[in-house]
Amino acid sequence: MPENFKDRISTYQARVDACLDQALPPASQLPTRLHEAMRYAVFNGGKRVRPLLVYAAGECLGVDPNLLDAPAVAIELIHAFSLVHDDLPAMDDDDLRRGKPTVHIKYDEATAILAADALQPLAFSVLANIEGASANGKNALVKLVADACGSIGMTGGQSIDLAAEGQTLTAEELEHMYSLKTGALIHAAIVSPCLFREDDDDSVTATLDAFGHAVGIAFQIKDDILDVEGETHVIGKPSGSDEKLGKATYPGQFGIEASRARCDELLQSALADLGPFGQSAAPLEWLARYIVERGQ
Ligand code: IPE
Ligand code: IPE
Ligand code: MG
Ligand code: MG
Ligand code: MG
Repeated sequence: MPENFKDRISTYQARVDACLDQALPPASQLPTRLHEAMRYAVFNGGKRVRPLLVYAAGECLGVDPNLLDAPAVAIELIHAFSLVHDDLPAMDDDDLRRGKPTVHIKYDEATAILAADALQPLAFSVLANIEGASANGKNALVKLVADACGSIGMTGGQSIDLAAEGQTLTAEELEHMYSLKTGALIHAAIVSPCLFREDDDDSVTATLDAFGHAVGIAFQIKDDILDVEGETHVIGKPSGSDEKLGKATYPGQFGIEASRARCDELLQSALADLGPFGQSAAPLEWLARYIVERGQ
């Protein structure tokens, strides 16, 4: 990977942070406790992997980055909302996120629920306000993000995750759950720039579609490996949380070695999908490798 890509990553992270800052109401605006909590949920750290995937896929397709700020922001807002709910006592009951108290610990449960409630529609408001996109492009983007967020996407996956506590799932069932709870938003990030393409070559979308599917599942297997092997102060969330809750996970059921092997298999398949894009896919390739090699 070209050395200068690390600089490009920081530039994109700063870019999406500035756009998130603009999209969120100021903490001083009434109701201040709610706006503070929304900002805390978004700005308490976070790798910004999904926005990075939006910009990297955009580079691959030659899409103007100015059009990509809205999907990058919207998907990160949905992700932040999903984490606030995921940490609630009714779900994973975790008190640490990104090395800091979770939103319901820092504020209170009701405020955490409301902050997440408000982050979700804000994402769609951002998409409705994209400048320079056609009405068709905007509509398609709203549908892409809504489906990735709802019962046929992340929320559905979270429901399966909760129902699977204490259960043994097949590898196929586990990967189906992962493709929904985590893969859906990652996949949406990766294919979102396709909606701004001027040509109508469906094979391009199909290629990114397959890449996004593989990377999304690999992301959650790696997250589960980190839950077993990572130290709390490094991963920024309580290590061993999955075992404590009896979560159905890939490492829990098949062991760490098999989980690593599956992650690598998914990575290789994802990288092979990028072949037709040549050098323009270098940022996506870098991110795919990062997702399975990361330490947090
Ligand atoms: C954590 O996602 C939740 C999962 C979907 C596994 P990230 O690892 O991207 O979390 P942040 O945003 O960087 O904290
Ligand atoms: C969460 O999976 C996926 C979401 C949709 C938020 P996890 O429950 O494993 O995520 P972490 O480990 O708490 O970040
Ligand atoms: Mg969870
Ligand atoms: Mg969790
Ligand atoms: Mg986890």
